[in-house]
Formats: sequence, C-alpha cells, structure tokens
Amino acid sequence: MANLPKDVTITDSHPKSLMLQKHIEYIASYGNNKDDYEYCMTEYLRMSGMYWGLTAMDLMGHLQYMDKTQIIEFIGQCVDPSTGGISSSVGHDPHLLYTLSAVQILCILDGLSVLPVDRVVQFVSSLQQPDGSFTGDKWGEVDTRFSFCAVACLSLLGRLDAIDVDKAVEFVLSCYNFDGGFGSQPGSESHAGLIYCCVGFLSITGRLHNIDGDLLGWWLCERQLPSGGLNGRPEKLPDVCYSWWVLASLSILGRLHWVHKQSLEKFVLACQDTETGGFSDRPGDLPDPFHTLFGIAALSLLGNEQLVKVNPTYCMPQYIIDKLKLRPQMLTI
Ligand code: FPP
Ligand code: ZN
Repeated sequence: MANLPKDVTITDSHPKSLMLQKHIEYIASYGNNKDDYEYCMTEYLRMSGMYWGLTAMDLMGHLQYMDKTQIIEFIGQCVDPSTGGISSSVGHDPHLLYTLSAVQILCILDGLSVLPVDRVVQFVSSLQQPDGSFTGDKWGEVDTRFSFCAVACLSLLGRLDAIDVDKAVEFVLSCYNFDGGFGSQPGSESHAGLIYCCVGFLSITGRLHNIDGDLLGWWLCERQLPSGGLNGRPEKLPDVCYSWWVLASLSILGRLHWVHKQSLEKFVLACQDTETGGFSDRPGDLPDPFHTLFGIAALSLLGNEQLVKVNPTYCMPQYIIDKLKLRPQMLTI
C-alpha cells in the first residue's frame, strides 16, 4: 500500500465560512460558570487562557465584551511579591509563560500601570543562564520557548537592555538544525512551535540574517498536507494551532505566499464548531480557547477582511504593536 501521510478528510458537512458571531459568543461566555469542570481543570493556565480569549476577541473587533477592570485586577493579584514574576492564577508559582501573557494582556488593555515594571523586568532577567538560555521558572527547565517569552516580554516593556541579548542570540542559534529548523535545546528535533519561538526571537532581536530563509521556508511548507492543514513535524496530524506557528514563521520570513492559502483556509474553517462556536484542533473535535485564538489569528494572517490584522511576531493586534512603536524585523530576501 502507498505510504500516504497521516491526514484528515474534510467533507461537505464541515463549515466553509467564518461564523464570527458564534465565536464572539463562545469567547464572551467562556468561564461564565466558574464551577464548570473544564474551567476548573485549566486553572494552572488561566493567565494564558485570558490572553487567548482577549486577543481573539480583539482580532474579531469586539474587545468591549471583555471585563477590562476585572482582568486588570486579577493580574495585579497574580504578581508574586517576592520575585516580581506573574503566575497563572492567584496562589500559583510565577512563570515566564504567564508573565508574558499578563504583559500582552496589559498592553492590549492599556493597563501596564498595575505592574511593578522594574520588578517584573528583574524576574525575567534573573532567569537568564550563563550560556544565554532562559529557564521558565526557578525549577530550571531550559527551552527556546522561554527565550522567546523573555525577549517578547521585555521588548513590550521597552526593557530589552536588561538582559545579555548577544548571549541570548548565541544560545538560540546553537539550537539551529541542519534541516533549517529549530528545536527546544541544542541537538533537539526541529518542531514548528519552537521554530515560531526562535524566528520570533530573532525578529525581536533583529538577527534574522543569521538563518537561511529558503531552507527554513521549505521545511515549513512541507508541513502542509493534502487536506490543506499544517502539522508541526513530519508524520504528525494537521492541527489548527500549527496553522499559526507555521504561518506566522513564514510571514516573518517573507514567504507566506509559499503555502497553498485556499486549502489552508478551508482546513481552518472546517475546524469551527457550528453549535457552540470556537475552533478545535481538527474537524469534528471539541473547541477550546487556545485553538480558537490560533484559528482566528491564522485567518487574519491569510488576509480575512472580517478580522483585525494580527502581528506575526507577537500574536497581538497589529494596531497595538504600532501604538507601542515596536518594529519587529521581517526578512525581505
Ligand atoms: C507546541 O507545543 C507549541 C509550541 C512549542 C510553541 C509555544 C510557544 C510559546 C510558549 C510562546 C508564546 C506564544 C505566543 C503566541 C505569544 P506542544 O508541547 O503542544 O507540542 P506538540 O504539539 O508537539 O505536543
Ligand atoms: Zn494544537
């Protein structure tokens, strides 16, 4: 039998147009019932959940449905008094992932004044290791995703000067693989999520000239399957969130036109839940706020005119990045 790639089948019963109103209702009502099983089980990532929902809502042009005051107050309560780091939820340990999500939310809501900015900056810089890498928290796991979180967070706060940027670049480039991609650590397999982190990192630090845009662009395009969807590594199923990790990387590399846009759009639209609203990882699965943000953000990158333009480096509305006067680098050759 022919060795066909793992893939999904899109049928006529899957949705074909963007159900904007349904998604607005899905995000607006998510978490209304605080006793809901799924809501309780995701407390450990609440801060990122808020970033996913808030950003999705802003990209859909309906930020006014979110309770700005309540969100800002919640973030204020998640700042750890001893380190300055921010946690997922009140009483949890601070982590770089949630610190970035909180800073992204506050940039969107114009609420940075709730933060002790110098202490947050001190938390981020304290996580840099002698080899330039970053741990996510005091427990010491090193991963290129934390290098991205650190520079994204500091650049949004206008404080990239607080770390050794050259050392940080040196570490990320040590994770560059022979196939043109990046992994989580030196020698680790290329993975589209981590490629996004490393390309985003190099875009923020202005060092994209260190990589081969054609080779990496080729690896990223090979993630597209016959269904139109994108996977994160060879032999994996397509997943809506990889529509973002792959497409955003290609966009930063100036090679967005290398994917087949119509078939990718068809795949992403097929992942909508026609009853509840929201997007799932694959057609027919249950929706969640994570895949809803990345489905919407991918459609925005594909040029959907019902959506606000997204910035590929920060995964935030472009108008916010413009307001902050940030100019993440894009590859032009
Ligand atoms: C897949 O992870 C995704 C990644 C590795 C990228 C994660 C990116 C960040 C943490 C940076 C913050 C992002 C934004 C948009 C601001 P996985 O562990 O689920 O991989 P798998 O699909 O192989 O299981
Ligand atoms: Zn996914």
